[in-house]
Amino acid sequence: MATFDFMTPQAGHFYAVGIGPGAPDLLTLRAARLVEQCDIVLSPQAKNSAKSLALAAVRPFLDQQEIIVHNYPMERNDGKTRDRWQQLARDVAQRCAAGQSVVQVTLGDPLIFATSSYLLQSLADHMPSDHLHVIPGISAFQTAASRFAEVLTLQEDRLTLMSATNLDAVAQALDHCETLVLYKAGGCIEALMDLLRQRNLLSRARLVSCGEQGDHELLVDDLSQWAMTPLSYMTTLIVKIGQRGWQENAAS
Ligand SMILES: C[S@@+](CC[C@H](N)C(=O)[O-])C[C@H]1O[C@@H](n2cnc3c(N)ncnc32)[C@H](O)[C@@H]1O
Repeated sequence: MATFDFMTPQAGHFYAVGIGPGAPDLLTLRAARLVEQCDIVLSPQAKNSAKSLALAAVRPFLDQQEIIVHNYPMERNDGKTRDRWQQLARDVAQRCAAGQSVVQVTLGDPLIFATSSYLLQSLADHMPSDHLHVIPGISAFQTAASRFAEVLTLQEDRLTLMSATNLDAVAQALDHCETLVLYKAGGCIEALMDLLRQRNLLSRARLVSCGEQGDHELLVDDLSQWAMTPLSYMTTLIVKIGQRGWQENAAS
């Protein structure tokens, strides 16, 4: 396989770059170099959010690049969502065809609950696949676990990572894994706490809000001791349900 210089953005290429949780020193070297040297930094931003956290995290690496903040509404409408990203994909593809390099910055990892996945899928209709690249970033589940030095998996533990927004699905997942990581937990924390209380799991749940985002960070290492407060959308829960040791019939 031909080697490819990922540290230098290529003319006409698109990079979905994961930038980690929001602390500039948690970008990978590859991410930092690409942001520093590309022609365009694209930062999608939900319409109701005050500022682009992703852009703030890469501020130390910005200089002459053109910055495009793409505002999009948060909607649960598949058709409209895909149309919107198709429009942006056409624009990005045109810029790449004109010889520019485009970096889309994404909090965490670009392939985990990320808008960059929509754009990547749409770009596949407009650009050659070898001009599309993904740079992994530290995802929220890794950030959250690291803040408590929480072991996520050992031996044959099952780790489930999911959105907290469907409570029935969360209830089912509690029965099928040893570690459950819930993204988007901020808006439904009350219902989640009720469910965990019913299952006697409240004291096994840890919460990270705005992890690695300076003074905004909130860490709760035992939800049974926590007086609930309103939370940011940037909230992740880790529920350590149990342990699954080596199973007798498993392959060695
Ligand atoms: C749209 S998803 C983005 C996930 C991101 N692509 C990743 O890999 O971490 C947003 C959810 O990620 C989680 N999240 C992202 N950044 C976080 C942070 N700094 N602290 C805690 N949770 C975070 C929260 O659960 C939030 O609701």
